[in-house]
Amino acid sequence: MANSFIVSLLLSILYIASASSQSAAPVGSPAGNTTSAQEFIKVSCNVTTDPTICVDSLSPYASSIQESPRRLIFTAVNVSLANIQSTMTLVDNLKKIKGLTFIESGLLSSCAEMFVLGLRDLTTSRGQLDDMYKSKGPDFKQHFEEAKTSIGGAEYNFFFCNYEFDQRKEVVKLRALVIPTVVNVSHILSNTIDLVDKFANATG
Ligand SMILES: *[C@@H]1O[C@H](CO)[C@@H](O)[C@H](O)[C@H]1NC(C)=O
Ligand SMILES: *[C@@H]1O[C@H](CO)[C@@H](O)[C@H](O)[C@H]1NC(C)=O
Ligand SMILES: *[C@@H]1O[C@H](CO)[C@@H](O)[C@H](O)[C@H]1NC(C)=O
Ligand SMILES: *[C@@H]1O[C@H](CO)[C@@H](O)[C@H](O)[C@H]1NC(C)=O
Repeated sequence: MANSFIVSLLLSILYIASASSQSAAPVGSPAGNTTSAQEFIKVSCNVTTDPTICVDSLSPYASSIQESPRRLIFTAVNVSLANIQSTMTLVDNLKKIKGLTFIESGLLSSCAEMFVLGLRDLTTSRGQLDDMYKSKGPDFKQHFEEAKTSIGGAEYNFFFCNYEFDQRKEVVKLRALVIPTVVNVSHILSNTIDLVDKFANATG
């Protein structure tokens, strides 16, 4: 049947996309087994919106994070960037499917544009965090607020992609392929804001 053919085609493209995003993981340093660092990540992630995703996404970098709030924050930003990039790869691959409807390719293109903006915002936030750690007093506070705003801007773009799919409930299959990843990135970004908010002032 044509329908099941399309589903299996979509699934194999999704599989290729996730396989390539795994092999591309360019963040931080190799996995370690530092028990106290893992504990530090667990306790820190406890303040976030989604502790489970927070721990899952950061614990591979425990040996590089150690117990440094600053390294925790930069790793969270780097992990967020890597997640945005793999979502962009996924959407690029889905756009290559033959026989997409006008609405389907429009949704994918719109989300792809949003993700470019999200990537830009998050990259900006990394510079603002760098500046923040070099400043004191009111300057520190200003860069702190700017960084949180930029990460929030990145998160907004992922909400918007989700929203656009919500307006098109008939796009069932594509939605099932795109939205879990988009929601995941939203949570990862939201966790990153929480970590910046709670730990930017901590020393170490
Ligand atoms: C984050 O990524 C940047 C650019 O690749 C790198 O210079 C930096 O060391 C990374 N930071 C952490 C904590 O992994
Ligand atoms: C890893 O950490 C666990 C404790 O969480 C410890 O039991 C285990 O021996 C460690 N493994 C290595 C290879 O260090
Ligand atoms: C997370 O917070 C809850 C409630 O404050 C607490 O009961 C729990 O022990 C904390 N978990 C960790 C790993 O810190
Ligand atoms: C969500 O992100 C985490 C951390 O990067 C990853 O392990 C998990 O597979 C992702 N889940 C989805 C549905 O994309």
